[in-house]
Amino acid sequence: MKVFVTGGSGFVGREILRQLHAAGHSIRLLARHPNSKHVQQDAARFNAEIHPGNVLDPASLTTGLANIDAIIHLVGIISEIGSNTYENVHTRGAQNMVTAAQQAGVKRFLQMSALGTRPKAIARYHQSKWAAEEIVRRSGLDWTIFRPSIIYGPDDQFVNLFARISKFSPALPVIGSGQSKLQPVPVADVASSFVRALKEPQSIGQTYDLAGRDVLSFVEVLDAILAVTNRKRLKLHIPMGLARFQAAALEFIFPKLLGKAPPLNCDQLIMLGEDNSGNPERANALFHLRPTPFREGIASYLKA
Ligand SMILES: NC(=O)c1ccc[n+]([C@@H]2O[C@H](COP(=O)([O-])OP(=O)(O)OC[C@H]3O[C@@H](n4cnc5c(N)ncnc54)[C@H](OP(=O)(O)O)[C@@H]3O)[C@@H](O)[C@H]2O)c1
Repeated sequence: MKVFVTGGSGFVGREILRQLHAAGHSIRLLARHPNSKHVQQDAARFNAEIHPGNVLDPASLTTGLANIDAIIHLVGIISEIGSNTYENVHTRGAQNMVTAAQQAGVKRFLQMSALGTRPKAIARYHQSKWAAEEIVRRSGLDWTIFRPSIIYGPDDQFVNLFARISKFSPALPVIGSGQSKLQPVPVADVASSFVRALKEPQSIGQTYDLAGRDVLSFVEVLDAILAVTNRKRLKLHIPMGLARFQAAALEFIFPKLLGKAPPLNCDQLIMLGEDNSGNPERANALFHLRPTPFREGIASYLKA
């Protein structure tokens, strides 16, 4: 198949490119920064065509869909900056991509969503992902929606962040009680689900939770990272009120003074306070996933 991938330069996207290539698909990659070194390198490695464009610019999408059999729409942000708001990137971006697919006659559409996405969600991230799901469900396309819990793997920004902090700091930060449940899922399993869904007509019109074997509190996730890296560190609990104050300050300072999205924002705090676990059985069965224990999964790259 010839597959158009958005968000292919990101953490999950690069693993999807790798698996698409390994499965013999050809790839056209939407890129905001087509000349960046890693986009060029990945395009060469996975024999992908680069299509310059942005999901916020509808005209840049339609021209990329000639001779495409399926779209994998991954674009997403965890922090807002300027016009890259959750609503614009997730909801308007999905609408633009769906419209381009309809105009180009590309029927198959795989949509990246997230666990916790639901009607009347509290976090704006989840609200915007829910609105995107609704657009995809009403599109008339042959859609499949995936909702992963937190995703881990060699290049993740989560496990690696805390592993790095634990290298230098005597304490690891825990916001609030750290008792909300997560079900971390390996990036390789997320990518396999997308790639196998392309050849799986049963997945059309379905929404799948993607979640790992273990349901762990945030504190248990940190304990697993410490166990694997063979370190002992204190956990410094930051009261939610103080964290909100810090996040609000970062949201103001980072975009205004540094021109960057903040490393922590108020929406993320809402999500950190919610459980993020699901039921991966349907996806595991259909896409032949064999869930790995979290500790084993992170040991494969943290130790290296
Ligand atoms: N990571 C997780 O734990 C997790 C969990 C659940 C769901 N998800 C979802 O999975 C998807 C991928 O996440 P990720 O962790 O791989 O994120 P990531 O590493 O930040 O990658 C995001 C991708 O989106 C692209 N992008 C952002 N805004 C764009 C725009 N306006 N037009 C075109 N491309 C744009 C980025 O391109 P540039 O390279 O140009 O910035 C990048 O390729 C997202 O939808 C996210 O919500 C992630």
